Amino acid sequence: MAFLSLFFHVILLLVCPTTLAENQTDHLALLAIKSSITDDPQHVLDSWNTSLHFCQWQGVTCGRRHPRLTKLDLGSRGLVGSLSPQIGNLSFLRVLRLENNIFKGVIPPQVGNLFRLRKLILINNSFEGEVPASLSNCTRLNVLGLARNKLSGKLPQQLSSLVNLMIITIHNNGFMGVGL
Ligand SMILES: *[C@@H]1O[C@H](CO)[C@@H](O)[C@H](O)[C@H]1NC(C)=O
Ligand SMILES: *[C@@H]1O[C@H](CO)[C@@H](O)[C@H](O)[C@H]1NC(C)=O
Ligand SMILES: *[C@@H]1O[C@H](CO)[C@@H](O)[C@H](O)[C@H]1NC(C)=O
Ligand SMILES: *[C@@H]1O[C@H](CO)[C@@H](O)[C@H](O)[C@H]1NC(C)=O
Ligand SMILES: *[C@@H]1O[C@H](CO)[C@@H](O)[C@H](O)[C@H]1NC(C)=O
Repeated sequence: MAFLSLFFHVILLLVCPTTLAENQTDHLALLAIKSSITDDPQHVLDSWNTSLHFCQWQGVTCGRRHPRLTKLDLGSRGLVGSLSPQIGNLSFLRVLRLENNIFKGVIPPQVGNLFRLRKLILINNSFEGEVPASLSNCTRLNVLGLARNKLSGKLPQQLSSLVNLMIITIHNNGFMGVGL
């Protein structure tokens, strides 16, 4: 009996290691992101409730093999609010789309922790302040959409180290020394 029980335990570990060691980091980060959104006229975030796994929440895509968030797409949902610094805890994030909403406040420097990030699309919001230099740590970034916000200051010099960057849009902001 003891042998059988051990046997099944080992099988369980082999079959679903991720369920046994469920990582709550993404879940907590998403709840923080939700709580810093003050208006959600299309009720997108109603599905962000405890009766569904966060991988099934609207706008959320998880990896095929692990319950970790790889894409967050909340574009064109009429959302109003700010972007929680906890965004930086979504360590497996590759794509972040928030375009055509009314996100205010700064782009949290914690976005620079997302070293797997490939696409960051924040076009047509009300983000303000400077673009965080920490973005230069997102070395895999290939699309950076910042156009139509209220960003100001200088574009950080460090962004020139982003060798994979193919598309960058920054027009309709208040950047200094940029003829766009
Ligand atoms: C969960 O994942 C994060 C980042 O991927 C890691 O820092 C943390 O140690 C993990 N926690 C557990 C309990 O595995
Ligand atoms: C959670 O969200 C789902 C999908 O939107 C919905 O069907 C369900 O009623 C919600 N549950 C609660 C407790 O709000
Ligand atoms: C998430 O990020 C915040 C701020 O960046 C940090 O203080 C916090 O400890 C992190 N939480 C988890 C669960 O990793
Ligand atoms: C910008 O976003 C607003 C919603 O916040 C939307 O009504 C408007 O059509 C968008 N503008 C463009 C040019 O897409
Ligand atoms: C990039 O990350 C490293 C290591 O975490 C950190 O020391 C450095 O300050 C970051 N660069 C920027 C420009 O924030």
